[in-house]
Amino acid sequence: MNDTILIIGACGQIGTELTLKLREKHGNDKVIATDIREGSKELMQSGTFEILNATDKEAIEQIIEKYKISQVYLMAAMLSVTAEKFPEKAWRLNMNSLSHVLNIAKDKKIKKVFWPSSIAVFGNSTPKQNTPQNTVTEPTTVYGISKLAGERWCAYYHNKFGVDIKSIRYPGIISWKANPGGGTTDYAIEIYHKAIKEKHYECFLSENTRLPMMFMDDAIKATIDLMVTDKSEEYKAYNIAAINFTPKEIASEISKHITDFNIEYKPDFRQEIADSWPQSIDDSEAKKDWNWDYEFDLEKMTTEMLENLKLKFEAELKNA
Ligand code: SER
Repeated sequence: MNDTILIIGACGQIGTELTLKLREKHGNDKVIATDIREGSKELMQSGTFEILNATDKEAIEQIIEKYKISQVYLMAAMLSVTAEKFPEKAWRLNMNSLSHVLNIAKDKKIKKVFWPSSIAVFGNSTPKQNTPQNTVTEPTTVYGISKLAGERWCAYYHNKFGVDIKSIRYPGIISWKANPGGGTTDYAIEIYHKAIKEKHYECFLSENTRLPMMFMDDAIKATIDLMVTDKSEEYKAYNIAAINFTPKEIASEISKHITDFNIEYKPDFRQEIADSWPQSIDDSEAKKDWNWDYEFDLEKMTTEMLENLKLKFEAELKNA
């Protein structure tokens, strides 16, 4: 591949692993990482990094010119919980960054864009089981509103100006490398941290709150596989599904490894956000259009999470 890739928001939960994987695939010098702040040692040492504010169009254009970028992955965003606290800031970050990248693509300064959407585009009036690709979308969160508006902008730029843009509606993404921040589905990561460190977790969602989830390796594979597909007739922010579970189910899976682990439920304002989202997702279009499939079930993901987090915490202790 001769393309040079720019990752905006490379130090976030998904950006970190996406950058590392793309560097492994295409070479370190082909993937330029940028973020508002520095990231993990592994990310910073594996290739070029520049500080970049995703709402600064001129700064984005300068980097694109400097490194002769042809593809952009725009991963910077404020997630559901933080966006409820800072609605205007979230709207500005989530929308302005997308608007800049779309306009840069419209001016043919880049060839291809990846922009992540989310299950947050759905709301209380959406069918909750096996949520279809095309259905009612009446999000109730600022984050969801920004993702839905973003999808419509992507479709508009695709249809009107021929911009090649790909999107996925990510479910909750579970990972151990970089910490997540500000998401409702983050409980399913925190629970592993607390299980190892304290053998106890106080969960901010109720025990039977079912949400669609996915292990990071599957999310990265989906993203990269979709990006190598040709430009399609129609823009679609693809539903993708892997697993879904409740806090009670993930806790019981963890108990198989940590037998004295216990969980307590204290739902807070985040319960309302979770209740507005689907419980399971119909991803038949992604399967049909680009052969999407997942690999990690709850059992395999739990083994992977616990093993890797234990090693990570031990290494942190040694270096402290
Ligand atoms: N993981 C996100 C959140 O919880 C949903 O896309 O905000």
